[in-house]
Amino acid sequence: MKKALVPGTFDPITNGHLDVISRAANIFDEVVVAVAMSKKKNTLFPLDKRVALVQEAVKDLPHVTAVGFDGLLTDFAVEQNAHCVVKGLRAITDFEYEFQMAAMNWQLHRSVETFFIMSPPQYMYLSSSIVRELASMNGDIHKFVPAHVEAALKAAYAQ
Ligand code: COA
Repeated sequence: MKKALVPGTFDPITNGHLDVISRAANIFDEVVVAVAMSKKKNTLFPLDKRVALVQEAVKDLPHVTAVGFDGLLTDFAVEQNAHCVVKGLRAITDFEYEFQMAAMNWQLHRSVETFFIMSPPQYMYLSSSIVRELASMNGDIHKFVPAHVEAALKAAYAQ
C-alpha cells in the first residue's frame, strides 16, 4: 500500500496542481494533498478555505483526500505514514529550489523520498500568484482553475 503526499500552499489550487495530483493518484494507492499553513506567505485564502477548495476539486478522484498541516513536511509525512512526497516540476527555474528542498527533506527523514512529475506545456508557466493577479484585474481564469475556485477568487476580489 503506497501512500503519497502532494504538498503545497494551494492559494488557490489550479489545474496545474490537479494535473500533478491526478497523475500521482494513477501511480500511488492513496494520495493526501497536504495544504501548508505557510506562515511566511501572506495568503489570500485562510488555511481552512484553501483545504475546502482542494477537497471540492479532488472529490471525484478516488483515493485522494486533502488536509491542512503546520510544521515540517517530513514530520507530517511520517505522522501520516506516507513515505513518498510528490511535487510538480514546471519550468527549469523550479529545479534548483526543488532540489534544495528534496535534499533537505532527505536529510531530515531518510525514509521520506521525493518524486517529481513534469508539468505538461499548458501548465508550465501557471502559478497561483499569476491566477490571483489575473482574477484581481478581472482577467479570464476559467482555463486555469476549476469553476468553484474561479467563483471563490471572484468573490474574494469583489470585496
Ligand atoms: N501547477 C501550478 N502551480 C504550481 C505547480 C503546478 N504543478 N507547482 C507549483 N506551483 C506554484 C504554486 O502555485 C506556487 O505559486 P505562487 O508562489 O505563485 O503562489 C508556487 O509554485 C510555489 O508552490 P508552493 O506550494 O507555494 O510552495 P513550495 O513549492 O515552496 O512548497 C511546501 C510548499 C508546503 C511543500 C513547503 O513550503 C514545505 O515543505 N513547508 C513545510 C515546512 C518545511 O518542511 N520546511 C522545510 C523544507 S526543506
